[in-house]
Amino acid sequence: MEPLASIRWSVLTLVIVVSLLIQPSFSIYCDEDDCYDLLGVTQSANASEIKKSYYKLSLKHHPDKNPDPESKKLFVKIANAYEILKDEATREQYDYAIAHPEEVFYNTARYYHAYYGHKTDTRAVLVGLLLVLSGFQYLNQWTRYNQAIDMVKKTPAYKNKLKAMELERTGGVTNKKKGKQQINKQMEEDLSKELELQIKGAEKPSLWELIGVRVVLLPYTVGKLLLWYGHWFWRYQVKQDSYSWQDASYLTRRSLGVPFDSWRNIDESTKDDLVERRLWEKPNFENYLAEMRKESKRRR
Ligand SMILES: *[C@@H]1O[C@H](CO)[C@@H](O)[C@H](O)[C@H]1NC(C)=O
Repeated sequence: MEPLASIRWSVLTLVIVVSLLIQPSFSIYCDEDDCYDLLGVTQSANASEIKKSYYKLSLKHHPDKNPDPESKKLFVKIANAYEILKDEATREQYDYAIAHPEEVFYNTARYYHAYYGHKTDTRAVLVGLLLVLSGFQYLNQWTRYNQAIDMVKKTPAYKNKLKAMELERTGGVTNKKKGKQQINKQMEEDLSKELELQIKGAEKPSLWELIGVRVVLLPYTVGKLLLWYGHWFWRYQVKQDSYSWQDASYLTRRSLGVPFDSWRNIDESTKDDLVERRLWEKPNFENYLAEMRKESKRRR
């Protein structure tokens, strides 16, 4: 991982861990209070006792009957405590959290699962996850890109290029001090632009490449691919047409294992020669390999 990215992750993890450890995990249920105490019952109380006690207390502290603001707060707390203890499953979880305060992560996870798990749409979680991932991906790409640019700017090749460009602009004449700074700036910018086109493996972050966008576009991508295959099958398998130049060049590129970008940079006549050899047919390809072998031996 990149140093910057790993620092980011460590900080994030640290923040989460610390915020979880600061309070014992059972306190996420009834804040600093004990849910049983709030309802005025013991931990061994049965369901009907809890219910009875809750009705009594909620009547006593109901805001309509009791205008005291403290009472209103208590009313909310009591209602919350009852929400937890009336349900057998969440009561059991709460008891477990009291008995095992050290299992912070387990208890916290169970709490959030019980209270938000069923309310949260899985799709929303997925969308959130994709957004977060895409965000990290985007940041990471920018960091990598900027690092690559900085690295290239430090190389002698870049500096020499800058000098050459300067000479070309000024026609070899050293300018009066005046406008020089400006010209330099302009040149730097031009060169930067040129550079941006050339750095491979650290392309400028593209929104189209983000995981989130990819997932959204998946049906479109798959559809396009299917259409392409269908078209291909119909044209070349069913109708037995001869390959169009574009498709033939695709087959050639694939049998040679050349990436698309490199193929684009090959000059047209070489491409034409290669395509005409029909390298996607096995015997042709083997002939071609044999020729290449001979050629390289001869050169040595
Ligand atoms: C709950 O406990 C009370 C008091 O101990 C008892 O009277 C009642 O029968 C119990 N209820 C149930 C459902 O066990």
